[in-house]
Amino acid sequence: MQITRFGPDDAAELKEWVALEDAVRLADSPWEHEPTLLRAEARFRHGWDGEPAVPYLARVDDEVVGGGTIAVSEYDNLHLAWLGLQVHPDHRRRGHGSAILAHLEGEVAAMGRTTVGMGGWESEACVAFAARHGYARAHQAINRRQHLADVDRAELDRRYDEALPRAADYALERWSLPTPDDRLDDLAEMASAINDAPTDDLDIEDEVFSAERMRSYEAACAFRRERGYRVVARHLPTGQLAGQTVVVVQSEHPTRGDQHDTSVVRAHRGHRLGLLLKVELLRWLAEAEPQLEEIDTFNAESNDHMIGVNELLGYRVMGRELAFQRTL
Ligand SMILES: CC(C)(COP(=O)(O)OP(=O)(O)OC[C@H]1O[C@@H](n2cnc3c(N)ncnc32)[C@H](O)[C@@H]1OP(=O)(O)O)[C@@H](O)C(=O)NCCC(=O)NCCS
Repeated sequence: MQITRFGPDDAAELKEWVALEDAVRLADSPWEHEPTLLRAEARFRHGWDGEPAVPYLARVDDEVVGGGTIAVSEYDNLHLAWLGLQVHPDHRRRGHGSAILAHLEGEVAAMGRTTVGMGGWESEACVAFAARHGYARAHQAINRRQHLADVDRAELDRRYDEALPRAADYALERWSLPTPDDRLDDLAEMASAINDAPTDDLDIEDEVFSAERMRSYEAACAFRRERGYRVVARHLPTGQLAGQTVVVVQSEHPTRGDQHDTSVVRAHRGHRLGLLLKVELLRWLAEAEPQLEEIDTFNAESNDHMIGVNELLGYRVMGRELAFQRTL
C-alpha cells in the first residue's frame, strides 16, 4: 500500500478524495448530503477555524482504497490529534484500515502529540475496529435534521411569548457574518461558553478563543460560500453578550443549512435564552432565506438541555457519531 499526503492545491487528489468520501457515505451514512469539492478544499485549506486537517490517500495498485486525515490545534489541546479514517466499502476487511491507522499514528507520534482520537458513525465496523486497536469509547453525538416545513411556528410563537418575561433584562440582536472587527473580542469571550458543553470521557482541555480565531472561523465559512446568520442576546444592565446561536446557509445548495454554535454564558442561564435565540434566528431565516428547507445540527448525546430545545424546534434524529481515544 502507498499512503501519500496531499493538500488543497492538488486538484486530482481532491477529486479522488471526494469520490472516496461519497462511496463511504453511501455505505455508512446515506442520509448525509453528498460531499463537494468546495467543502473538501475548504476543510484542507481552512479547517473549522483556521487550522486545516491534513489529508492522506491510500492506494493499492494505483487504486484508491482508503484515506485519512490528521487534525491538530495550536490554539489549545497541544497533547491531542484527531484522526479521520475511511476505507472504501469494496476494500474492507483486508487490513487496509489497520495499515492506514498505523501510518497516521506514526505521523502523530512524530509531531509529539500523545493522545489520539478518532471517530465515525455508529456501526459494528467502527466499534470493533476501534476496540481492536485499543481505543476507548469517550463521547457520542447525535446528528439531527430540522425540516422547516414541519416546524409548528404558531406553537413556537406561543413558547416565545411565554419565555419573554423571563428574559426582560436581555435584548436579541441580529448580526450577519462577517462580524465587524471591533466586536470580535467580545464574541471570542462569549464563544468560550461552548466549553461548558458536555465532553463525556474525552481527554480534552477547554478551547481557547481569540478575535483571530473568530475571524478565521468566519473566513472558513466565507470560503465555503456560506451565508452566515448569528443572533446574540445582550444583557442590558451590563451590556455584556450573554449568548448566541449561528446558522449558515450553503450557497452551493441554498435549501440546506447547518447549525453551528449555540451557547449561553453560565451567568445568564435560566432565562430561556436558548429558546429565544433559536426562535429569533428561525424568524430571521424565514425572511432572509425563504428557500431554506432543512438545518443539520450535532449535539453531545448527554446534552439534555440543548436537545430539549431542539426537539421543541422539530428536529429528527439522523445518526449517532462515536468518538474514541487512546494514548500513544
Ligand atoms: C472502520 C474501517 C476503517 C475499518 O477498515 P478495514 O480496512 O475494514 O479494517 P481492517 O481490515 O484493518 O480491520 C481490522 C480489524 O477491525 C475489526 N473490524 C473491522 N471491520 C469490522 C466489522 N465490519 N465487523 C467486525 N469487526 C470489524 C476486526 O477485528 C478486524 O480484524 P479481522 O478482519 O482480522 O477480524 C472501515 O469499516 C470504514 O471505513 N468504516 C467507515 C468509517 C469509520 O467508521 N471510520 C472510523 C473508525 S473508528
